[in-house]
Amino acid sequence: MIKKVETPEEADVLVLFGATGDLAKKKLFPALYSMERKGKLEAAVVGVASTKWDHEQFVSNAFNAIRTNVENVDEEILAKLDAKLSLVVGNYQDPKVYQDLAGALEGKKTPVIYLAIPPSLFEQVTQGLASVGLTQNARLVVEKPFGRDLESAEMLQAALERTLPEDRIFRIDHYLGKESVEDILIFRFANSIWEPLWNRRYINSIQITMAENFGIEGRGAFYDGVGAIRDVMQNHLLQVLALIAMEPPSDLRSQFMEDEKLKVFRAISPVKTEDMVRGQYVGYLDEKGVAAGSHTETFAAALMYVDNWRWAGVPFYLRTGKYLAETTLEVVVEFKHPPRLLFTEAQENSPNILRFRLGKNDGVDIELLAKAPGDNLSTIPVQLNVEFSAALGDRQEAYERLLRAAMLGDHLRFTRIDSVLESWRILEGVIHGDPQVYPYFKGTWGPEKVTDLMPQGWIDL
Ligand code: BG6
Repeated sequence: MIKKVETPEEADVLVLFGATGDLAKKKLFPALYSMERKGKLEAAVVGVASTKWDHEQFVSNAFNAIRTNVENVDEEILAKLDAKLSLVVGNYQDPKVYQDLAGALEGKKTPVIYLAIPPSLFEQVTQGLASVGLTQNARLVVEKPFGRDLESAEMLQAALERTLPEDRIFRIDHYLGKESVEDILIFRFANSIWEPLWNRRYINSIQITMAENFGIEGRGAFYDGVGAIRDVMQNHLLQVLALIAMEPPSDLRSQFMEDEKLKVFRAISPVKTEDMVRGQYVGYLDEKGVAAGSHTETFAAALMYVDNWRWAGVPFYLRTGKYLAETTLEVVVEFKHPPRLLFTEAQENSPNILRFRLGKNDGVDIELLAKAPGDNLSTIPVQLNVEFSAALGDRQEAYERLLRAAMLGDHLRFTRIDSVLESWRILEGVIHGDPQVYPYFKGTWGPEKVTDLMPQGWIDL
């Protein structure tokens, strides 16, 4: 029987665990400010933290964070936000903090509880919430990575499901909140010109890069236990891959979208050791919080295949790293040559390229060949570009869209457990396999070794 889909109730309170932490500072408070400015924040916001701040300290730290991250802050909007903020302080191990929170939420019916805290605390906190009845109607938002590998993700899910069902768990992958990433869906499924080309007959390879020209920014203790594969590849990069590779969903409801992504993940075989290069920038071992002799990778590049009718034989190259030559987030779709190279040999080195720029200055570029000026019928590469900010104006920040979606109970921009487990399965072998990391210098495109894996011409963007 088809289950009737009910419209979820909008949340009447947002609870932020980790309210004095880094994520709250950099992303969540600026997102709340933006929601308030647009009149889209009806709910109260209750912070929970172990830092012993009073209300004034909490609010002034939140506002400083907003002033640092948002241009032209309006003091009147801050005052409105102030009226909605409160803080509960306590140790997450102590039952009292949950009792105090329950007191602060009295009369609220539909809380959204955001765990912006280390994943190792998720289980304990949800049990604490359940012990005072706070999980009965709540939606729980958890940050990525969900688990450390397949087994721990399954265990975490089992622990969460002891207190609340899957349809009230919202797993964040903030890339799914980026408008530029969502544009992949529109680009593919709202335009008819791409679909006939979008397969193994016309596409030579897909290359997905998330590169940063900065390091771990004081997050050594967290990062050293995680590394680039768990921090970025298992989630952000595989989600982008799924959007590129999936079949059109039958409609835009989240379960249909997730069904299609799941099929993509199921078609990817576990990555083999020889298809993964792990690197570590020189100097990483001197970072604060990093264990002596650590083998944690700050760079990872992998080759994957999606073994289905659309993609069999097309290599998908994924790479990510800290302290690389530049900061960029992009997908390159490289097309095959026409069956006969009529013009010069230069044509062979210039395949048609479609580039999705997904980071700052997002947009799309198409590289084509045109006639080179002069007597001969020879070719020259030219570019067609769209800058979305110039064409369409400002884009919304991912965290604002995600917070809003969680408050509305909309799963569309969140990951479902079966997909998350599949993405761990794909990387399981390399996570637990050969721990060798190849050194690379800051400001480069990663270790030399990567040239064995990646296509020529792609190493340097
Ligand atoms: C986070 C990672 O999920 O994404 C960080 O933990 C990374 O290591 C960040 O820097 C990048 O996000 P964005 O939106 O700047 O591409």
